[in-house]
Amino acid sequence: MEFSVFTGQANEVTADCLVVTLDQSGALSASAAAVDSASNGFIKARVDEGDIKGAPGKTLLLPAVSGIAARRVLLVGSGEGEASTVTAGKIVQAVAASVASIKGRIAVDLTALASEKFPQAWWAEQLVLAIHAAQYRFTATKPEKEEAPKADALTWIGEDVTTALTIADAKGLGTSWAKDLGNMPPNICTPTYLAEEAERLSDEAGFSCRVYDESELDAMGAGAFVSVSKGSVEPGKIIIMEYKGAGDEAPHMIVGKGITFDTGGISLKPGAKMDEMKYDMCGAASILGTMKTIAELKPAINIVAVITSAENMPAGNASKPGDVVTTLSGQTVEILNTDAEGRLVLCDALTLAIGEYKPQTCVDVATLTGACMAALGKVNSGLFTEDEALATELLSAGQYSGDRVWRLPLEEDYQAGLDSNFADMANIGGPLAGATTAACFLSRYTKDTRWAHVDIAGPAWGGDGTSKNSTGRPVPLLTTYLLNKAS
Ligand code: BES
Ligand code: MN
Ligand code: ZN
Repeated sequence: MEFSVFTGQANEVTADCLVVTLDQSGALSASAAAVDSASNGFIKARVDEGDIKGAPGKTLLLPAVSGIAARRVLLVGSGEGEASTVTAGKIVQAVAASVASIKGRIAVDLTALASEKFPQAWWAEQLVLAIHAAQYRFTATKPEKEEAPKADALTWIGEDVTTALTIADAKGLGTSWAKDLGNMPPNICTPTYLAEEAERLSDEAGFSCRVYDESELDAMGAGAFVSVSKGSVEPGKIIIMEYKGAGDEAPHMIVGKGITFDTGGISLKPGAKMDEMKYDMCGAASILGTMKTIAELKPAINIVAVITSAENMPAGNASKPGDVVTTLSGQTVEILNTDAEGRLVLCDALTLAIGEYKPQTCVDVATLTGACMAALGKVNSGLFTEDEALATELLSAGQYSGDRVWRLPLEEDYQAGLDSNFADMANIGGPLAGATTAACFLSRYTKDTRWAHVDIAGPAWGGDGTSKNSTGRPVPLLTTYLLNKAS
């Protein structure tokens, strides 16, 4: 998308669609009033007749208003007073839904909505992301018969928000790519495919990229990773990309779970909706999406991005409940349930990458537990950390981006749930606090590192039937968090 900033009056801007606002009482914003007076009261007449009242996110598309330069006008309700996080989201999504499929240039005047909490740059960023989302289509396995019309240029009326627009466009690109990877069928999106995509991105962006294959990991002693991967004919991989934008400073690490299909293994999952377990690599997808955004923006920060990828299958040579394996850290694990495989592939990846790169901070993202989704639904991801500063940074990145996280406990008292009489720990706790016991398991592999775990089981995908779709989350969270660190 092409961007520009316009500092004149809304009625003078040349565009295929001009977006202006009115509030809940029907009062026109300054920009809507300018359009109204240039068009002999055309807007006011529509409001007086009750065509639109100004509730947040209500829209009215008016074709060819006489007296103004733009070819259409979209009126948008802004609600009452200062927008809240929820109403702001509604407004931006309503605008995007209306304009994303208008061919050509969109000009938007949302200046009346800016507040201290949500300045113009925030509205600009959210709008660009919402347009990316509204224009997203998955076409890899079902091409569109005809390409839909698309807005491809945006004029921001108001302050110079060029930087915000550029950042948002890069975040949108990364998020859409994460959606594509998530939606890709599991016979195509295998660990090998993820490694090839990581190598392709790294070549384009100048990242270094190292792929550890299953046999190498086996030889190194990554017994937890291999215990998951060995039951599949698709070879597992741990993929490590490195971006250097800040000299020799210790890197910030992000790690994603990439189970390209989770059958549960010998602890087989029920059949209903099992297709959705292709989304069990959405953590990995968001790592790639985030690195795509980083490749576009080249911020001043060092990042190490890790993907731990395998297919979890039942097979003659698959792990069995009761197996005891030795992890790369040397700690042993009794596998009581082969469906708790995410933590097994993550623990060895964490040991390997933390040992190799000694990061300043480490954040892992994983579709780890149904329990987290039961607790938080699809609105918030679960955030687990004992590092208060890291928690604050992630919570605020979530609030700013709308890709929200909610903190759940990671207290010592929960660790005993993992006790095993045959190994250092079991891979599952009891029936209670399942999201926390999973985080407790990971904490045993990140001991001396500033680390946070984000359970994205709820937010990573949504819908049902024909609305089933990857959300691209947590790319907005991770990119916002990392860019904040760089600035
Ligand atoms: N990938 C699943 C978690 C999941 C389930 C995410 C449904 C999103 C929707 C994970 O590997 C898993 O199976 N976890 C088990 C853990 C249990 C055996 C302790 C779960 O949550 O049931
Ligand atoms: Mn599982
Ligand atoms: Zn899983």
